[in-house]
Amino acid sequence: MRRARVLVLISGGGSNLQTLIDAARQPNCAYEIVHVIANRPDAFGLKRAEHAGIASACLDHKAFQVRADFDTALAALIDQITPDLIVLAGFMRIMGAEFVARYEGRMINIHPSLLPNFPGLHTHARALEAGVTLHGCTVHWVTAGVDEGAIIGQACVPVLPGDSPDDLAARVLVQEHRLYPVCVEAVASGRARLVNGRTYLDGKPGGIALMGI
Ligand code: GRF
Repeated sequence: MRRARVLVLISGGGSNLQTLIDAARQPNCAYEIVHVIANRPDAFGLKRAEHAGIASACLDHKAFQVRADFDTALAALIDQITPDLIVLAGFMRIMGAEFVARYEGRMINIHPSLLPNFPGLHTHARALEAGVTLHGCTVHWVTAGVDEGAIIGQACVPVLPGDSPDDLAARVLVQEHRLYPVCVEAVASGRARLVNGRTYLDGKPGGIALMGI
């Protein structure tokens, strides 16, 4: 069975990228990472790709005056790479509706909260502010609305008394690194599909739930 061709988009450290690289080394993994693209030249994830022998490129968003021009250039690059699946891993760009529509159903993202709670930024501080006792991360399909696409999988962690945003971020990141490889594998293998705006797992509506410690 041909392994699904995965393109990973990053902006920073690439710890999620690293977990996907490590998972793809398993012989029966349903995907291979064929390319990594960063929108920042200083993204450490580019070094991770280089170290793993994976092709990479930087498309510096600062080189584009108009947001739509960046999207157009990125789409041109993506269409040369011909990925089966585009995985956003710490990619901090909001793409336009036209770009998202072009790849809908084969582009996914990981967000550091239990969506639909806390879309957007500063999720850990907002979770503490709201006084929730359960927090976590979500892998979802990318749609035009920010952090609104159908959920593929979630992993939860407890919020402990006295937690700082950094304490919570570290606890969630451990679960991100468990959740993302499982979700990318499920999508790459065809187990998880987007059908009429809903995630179907093994033919039934629903997704993946991981209970973090
Ligand atoms: C992670 O918390 C991820 O949820 C968010 O960006 C953070 C950094 O990710 N989207 P990485 O270490 O660059 O993969």
